[in-house]
Amino acid sequence: MNRFENRIVLITGAASGIGEASALRIAQEGGSVICADMDVEGVEQTVSEIGKNGGEAIALACDVSDQDSVNKTVERGVEKYGKLNALCNIAGILRFDKTLEAKMEDFDRIIKVNLNGTFMMCQAALPHLIETKGSIVNMASTAALGAHAWTAAYSASKGAVLALTKCLAVEFGRLGVNVNALCPSSIATPMVDAVVLPEGIDISLLKKVEPFDGKFRPPSDVAGAVAFMHSVASPSFDTFRSVDPAGAALELKTLMLDNVDVISSMNGITVSNGRLNLNDSAIAIRDWNGAADPIANFSATPTSGDELC
Ligand SMILES: NC(=O)c1ccc[n+]([C@@H]2O[C@H](COP(=O)([O-])OP(=O)(O)OC[C@H]3O[C@@H](n4cnc5c(N)ncnc54)[C@H](O)[C@@H]3O)[C@@H](O)[C@H]2O)c1
Repeated sequence: MNRFENRIVLITGAASGIGEASALRIAQEGGSVICADMDVEGVEQTVSEIGKNGGEAIALACDVSDQDSVNKTVERGVEKYGKLNALCNIAGILRFDKTLEAKMEDFDRIIKVNLNGTFMMCQAALPHLIETKGSIVNMASTAALGAHAWTAAYSASKGAVLALTKCLAVEFGRLGVNVNALCPSSIATPMVDAVVLPEGIDISLLKKVEPFDGKFRPPSDVAGAVAFMHSVASPSFDTFRSVDPAGAALELKTLMLDNVDVISSMNGITVSNGRLNLNDSAIAIRDWNGAADPIANFSATPTSGDELC
């Protein structure tokens, strides 16, 4: 597949985990990747890996929680390639705390990186994405959908990223920019490896948010979903406005064959633990799309609780 040929894609968090895997996947599909991360050595390694595979990328040092750094990253990327077609907001941080013992400085830091960082990147990139009728994929989490214990700040930040995404999808969808979010869970990355759980907690509560088979998925699974969500806005699909949920569901079936079974998207479809569900954002799409009722369109495809494959 060459879905990203002639497309310039900016990815934050590209030094590690899901961001790194997304950079490799998009470069493999012909995109030129602006790899941004505050881990300079790590992001240079990602670029070197892309180069070894014959792809095109540059590394930029970027702290997404710093507005000046965010603006400079977008400026430098556009200066290098002359345009921007897609933005992936993947940089993020996680920590577990007992809520009654959590420190405000930790809470603030998580909100600053995960939420403010996503907002500032979108704000800086959107003028360029309007020009190219481009796309944004924001990395939320199943924490945005509820029930993650001991992650008050992280869950709040990811819930807000999902709400922000829906806001931007409606505001900029009419200008041709496709904005989506993914909600993965239990992906084997350095972030998960580094988690320190508070002492004395009931671990069984964490099982509620793990995949039904308990297996953590590789970051390349989410990278497949990131590439898919951007390709929804590719010229073959025009913008999301022209894709009805039934069509999108068909694509998600293809995605499932790639073993992406723990994602969800805000475009009216949720895929979680191998199941396909409608979610309330279908309503938002019906409203701003003005097209046929997506829920009616959906009836021919698996609905809530049905197995996908
Ligand atoms: N791993 C999972 O199970 C999982 C599940 C749901 C959502 N997510 C989300 O996916 C995203 C990527 O997570 P991951 O698991 O790949 O983690 P990771 O730790 O492997 O990668 C995160 C990257 O973000 C970078 N980063 C952190 N703070 C930054 C900042 N201020 N500015 C720029 N870069 C910064 C880090 O240097 C790192 O390279 C995060 O937003 C995370 O919340 C992960």
